[in-house]
Amino acid sequence: MCDRRLVLLLAVAAAVVGDCAAKLAPDFIVPCNNTDPACLVKATQNAIPEFSKGIPGLGVPSLDPFIIDNLPIQLPGVKVTFSDGKATGLRKCEVRNVEAYLEKNIFKLEVKCNITIKGKYTAVGRLLLFPINGEGDAKIKIVNSIIKLDIKTKYYKDEEGRDHFGIKSYKYTFDYGERIFYVITNLFKGNPELSNTVLQFLNENWRTVTEEFGKPVVDYAINVTIETARKFFSAVPYDELLHVPIPPYS
Ligand SMILES: *[C@@H]1O[C@H](CO)[C@@H](O)[C@H](O)[C@H]1NC(C)=O
Ligand SMILES: *[C@@H]1O[C@H](CO)[C@@H](O)[C@H](O)[C@H]1NC(C)=O
Ligand SMILES: *[C@@H]1O[C@H](CO)[C@@H](O)[C@H](O)[C@H]1NC(C)=O
Repeated sequence: MCDRRLVLLLAVAAAVVGDCAAKLAPDFIVPCNNTDPACLVKATQNAIPEFSKGIPGLGVPSLDPFIIDNLPIQLPGVKVTFSDGKATGLRKCEVRNVEAYLEKNIFKLEVKCNITIKGKYTAVGRLLLFPINGEGDAKIKIVNSIIKLDIKTKYYKDEEGRDHFGIKSYKYTFDYGERIFYVITNLFKGNPELSNTVLQFLNENWRTVTEEFGKPVVDYAINVTIETARKFFSAVPYDELLHVPIPPYS
């Protein structure tokens, strides 16, 4: 009886102390009180528009727009370099599923997104039998792509002893969705006719074409997204993200 009262008192004291500590999570984070997917989906959906703008105070960069300074892509036969680029649309992604298995260290996320990538490119090599030496503007519009992320999480303590989510490893699948539109100028320097014909071919065969060269671009984009999430998780402690006791860990 006496013990229980002491425990209660300590709990209240801890709660008061806890309340005094400055909250690090931005206001758009509404922690769930359980790992019910319905709550996780809603919380994630609500956080995405603000989160993707970036949180400079926490060192979290913007994902929408997402700046692509310079991205070399080595394809079979063609070396493409993408520069001065910008990807937009992430803030409007629709969250389809979120599952968290805290003890098993598994976190799953599925989103449906429209993404537009715009920038400058150079392409040197051979494309579909033709020697290519292109340089111009590129715009890629991806409609209703489905991204599934499978993350292995871990937990760790920061210097102040507060628990954090960590990302140990991840896998993803990217379904290119319903349609991809390519607008690329000057694929073949000085030959607008051939440029247009090949561009038309790329659009008519968008799925095959994208499967060929999409992977390095998507790998890059997912990697940046994961790095961004890592920064966020290292800035904001576990107990400000999820109001579920953290499982024991070593
Ligand atoms: C979690 O519980 C608290 C306290 O009961 C409540 O204020 C809050 O709205 C709940 N969070 C969610 C996401 O339901
Ligand atoms: C993507 O764009 C299409 C066509 O404009 C629209 O019908 C669809 O609802 C959008 N999807 C998302 C996830 O915003
Ligand atoms: C992912 O990004 C990090 C940091 O930007 C970089 O160090 C790492 O090499 C990248 N990994 C892959 C597979 O691209």
